[in-house]
Amino acid sequence: MSAGALDDALLDLAVDLAGRAAALAFEGRRRGMPAAGTKSTGTDMVTEFDRACESLIVGGLRTARPDDAIVGEEGTADRGSSGITWFVDPIDGTTNFLYDLPGWAVSIAAADPDGMVIGVVAVPSLGETYTAVRGRGAWRNGEPISVGSVTHLGEALVATGFGYAPERRRRQAALLTTVLPAVRDVRRLGAASVDLCHVACGRVDAYFEEGLGPWDLAAGALVAREAGAVTTDFAGAPARPEEVLATSPALAAALRGLLAEAGAPVRHDPHLP
Ligand code: IPD
Ligand code: CA
Repeated sequence: MSAGALDDALLDLAVDLAGRAAALAFEGRRRGMPAAGTKSTGTDMVTEFDRACESLIVGGLRTARPDDAIVGEEGTADRGSSGITWFVDPIDGTTNFLYDLPGWAVSIAAADPDGMVIGVVAVPSLGETYTAVRGRGAWRNGEPISVGSVTHLGEALVATGFGYAPERRRRQAALLTTVLPAVRDVRRLGAASVDLCHVACGRVDAYFEEGLGPWDLAAGALVAREAGAVTTDFAGAPARPEEVLATSPALAAALRGLLAEAGAPVRHDPHLP
């Protein structure tokens, strides 16, 4: 199979499974409050649909591509031999989902040894599915998307998110005391993958967060990059779950400077959620 045909096959599979999982969760949430519990801290929620969606997606991946590795937020850790690794966040924005707020997503990405190859972020409450293929572009419901055109920090609408450990949140709040006065405004919408897609289509000008999981970042960061965004850590090295800044290129240097002024990069404790 040619590289292009493999990318197409991976994308089609991810779109199908993300769509089916999104429908399962969306219809389930319409029927009422899901059963829920907590994970790493008392604020880190998991619902019956996080688990059901991961089962649906992982079952589909194992059937279609039994030799691939799979990493899923709700515990899947399959080793593979094909060189392809899937990253699955069955529901990104579980708190939004629980409270019946819009903006949660199903996020699926596939990587080869050179990095992310395809990404899909399905946002059923918005009726939107974002897709990207490395080197070929990014789309919302099949239409090409690109980052916004703001060039001045003071005009930038900046999204961010918070982790689940009180200690991490204290540091994240401290960063905001420098960032918020310097930009147009700040949004905390509640799902990292969707924040990244919003950078990709210009609904926000930038997004930064520390302490993500690989499944939060994988698909959305590819969508953002393929739409023209720069994705780095706070110091300008390649983005990683511990630190991500996704922004239109024109704002990158100013935002990195602002984060440095705010005290970032911070020292990361890998044990904090
Ligand atoms: C969370 C969301 C949130 C971000 C957190 C993530 P989850 O993912 O993406 O926006 O701020 O850092 O953990 O727990 O809802 O899958
Ligand atoms: Ca999740």
